[in-house]
Amino acid sequence: MECAGNELLFCMAMVVLLGGMNMVRAEDPTQYYDWRVAYKWLSPLGTAPPQRVITINDQFPGPTLSTITNHVVSINVYNLLDEPLLFTWNGIQMRKNAWQDGTQGTNCPIMPGYNWTYVIQFKDQIGSFFYYPSLNFQRAAGGFGGITIANREIILVPFPQPVGDFTILIGDWYNTDYKVLKDTLDTGYILSNPNGVLINGQKPMDATFWVQQGATYRFRISNVGGATSLNFRIANHPMQVVEVEGTYTNQDYFDSLDIHVGQSYSVLVTMNQVLGDYFIFASPRFAENIPDGIAILRYLNSGNSNLNPIYPISAPPTWDFSFSLIQAKKIRMNLTTGAARPNPQGAYKYKDIPIKRTVILANSGLMVEGKQRYAVGGNSFIYPNTPLLLADYLQIPGVFKIVPFHKHPPSMAFGSPLIMSTFVGNSGLKENFTEIIFQNTEETLQTWHLDGYSFFVVGMEPGSWTKHSRRSYNMNDAISRSTVEVFPFSWTSILVQLDNKGMWRLSSQNLQRQYLGQELYIRVWAPPQGPMGDYNQKPIPSNVILCGKAKGYAKNISSVNF
Ligand SMILES: *[C@@H]1O[C@H](CO)[C@@H](O)[C@H](O)[C@H]1NC(C)=O
Ligand SMILES: *[C@@H]1O[C@H](CO)[C@@H](O)[C@H](O)[C@H]1NC(C)=O
Ligand SMILES: *[C@@H]1O[C@H](CO)[C@@H](O)[C@H](O)[C@H]1NC(C)=O
Ligand SMILES: *[C@@H]1O[C@H](CO)[C@@H](O)[C@H](O)[C@H]1NC(C)=O
Repeated sequence: MECAGNELLFCMAMVVLLGGMNMVRAEDPTQYYDWRVAYKWLSPLGTAPPQRVITINDQFPGPTLSTITNHVVSINVYNLLDEPLLFTWNGIQMRKNAWQDGTQGTNCPIMPGYNWTYVIQFKDQIGSFFYYPSLNFQRAAGGFGGITIANREIILVPFPQPVGDFTILIGDWYNTDYKVLKDTLDTGYILSNPNGVLINGQKPMDATFWVQQGATYRFRISNVGGATSLNFRIANHPMQVVEVEGTYTNQDYFDSLDIHVGQSYSVLVTMNQVLGDYFIFASPRFAENIPDGIAILRYLNSGNSNLNPIYPISAPPTWDFSFSLIQAKKIRMNLTTGAARPNPQGAYKYKDIPIKRTVILANSGLMVEGKQRYAVGGNSFIYPNTPLLLADYLQIPGVFKIVPFHKHPPSMAFGSPLIMSTFVGNSGLKENFTEIIFQNTEETLQTWHLDGYSFFVVGMEPGSWTKHSRRSYNMNDAISRSTVEVFPFSWTSILVQLDNKGMWRLSSQNLQRQYLGQELYIRVWAPPQGPMGDYNQKPIPSNVILCGKAKGYAKNISSVNF
């Protein structure tokens, strides 16, 4: 429904009426999918012999999951790989439903030869995200794909409907088999540079995006790689940023965008140039000797003009972090528009919410018994063989110890001693803001992701955070997102209201660091019968897989609130 002309008043009334309805309606439609996940021998960069690539229904990247706010998506995943499999949904909030989050801390894996059905409601969210396989370094072999959540028809989108919508997955790529990469890490070594950059799984010059002169398109760009920040740009075509990980932004134009690992941006591009070919570049940042990813934007009816594609401006100097920092601060929440609901995003006045607790988390790393490990807050995470969420629900002792989240060890420098443990920080439910400061004590850029939430990125500055740093916070229109960058020897501060019950992973988006322990879990909980009863999790799914110590507990599963 568009609100225009003489229907405007009626239409606005409908928006208010329907927007106020907050419950799950019986009519929320379900979309059904079957995903067959298998290997295929491909040579994606074209510079090495074929390697094992993870495909979904024979596709690499996997199919784009296109849905609408509040729709339910049922995905029956068949694991045709030779090892366990789980998918996780980067940036999807999984409200009250950590059961479907698909990390090793929430789900038992789908074993080879078996299938399992995810049932996910895309509750109160819009925007551009991606999914990927979360276990065993599999993301380095593919298995990822885009997620697009459209607004419900009654909710206005803050820009005219684009003519077309492209999902663009950019990411670094290794020519080495992912199991060899994993073995390298298991034996204690770290990885050298990736071999190149893929755009939608294709090598330089292979991906072509056909466009109509004069029309405006939406590009949803996600960095699905393992380590490398990428500068994305299109020759002669400025990009108008409109949405970042589910938040509509101030609609500013950028000639190039730094997109860090795990982040998603949505931009509008108007095809206002002469007929012809224009290069699209995804250039590695803060890293040397990795070739660019290159695709082609081709105007329809260009005839023979395709012979001389136009080059974009060059990327910022390799080690120019300040370009990226200044750009990050320009990307802000649009206060006058709504997202998944009709009320403006800015109506949620986050500056009025007090800070309940402050947690300072520094990244660090150390050789432990001759093997590289990475840590956050001095702890290198070890997975138990029983998922934390199941152990919590079934009250299985001895899987993890609950530590108050703010009692986390203080910040530590790279190289200082670390603990190897299953760290689960405990937080009450809906306790005003938790302030998390990521303090980066290294010379490399870090990116951090929190499952189940979107958070306000209120500050980002060089140096060490002190409580006086709060004076520099943006308490008006900070972007709300789920993956954030932390510059070298700098800090980034986020505010999050922990109002989604469950067990949520806070992890480095750098694949190697995450695999070697740079993550922790936050348990957000309140008694089911208390005043927070409205926030209980959905009942445990009837198809739940039991593993580890949970194996004998099938009879103990009931649909009681949790
Ligand atoms: C596995 O797939 C079959 C259909 O082939 C389906 O009936 C069944 O529910 C699926 N199992 C799970 C656990 O999702
Ligand atoms: C915010 O969105 C509105 C549309 O809802 C748009 O008109 C306005 O220009 C946007 N604000 C900025 C600062 O871009
Ligand atoms: C949130 O902060 C307000 C003001 O300090 C306080 O009255 C309220 O009890 C807090 N709520 C929770 C759940 O901590
Ligand atoms: C499982 O349920 C049975 C019967 O309800 C109960 O006796 C038993 O203690 C439960 N086991 C655990 C480990 O909670």
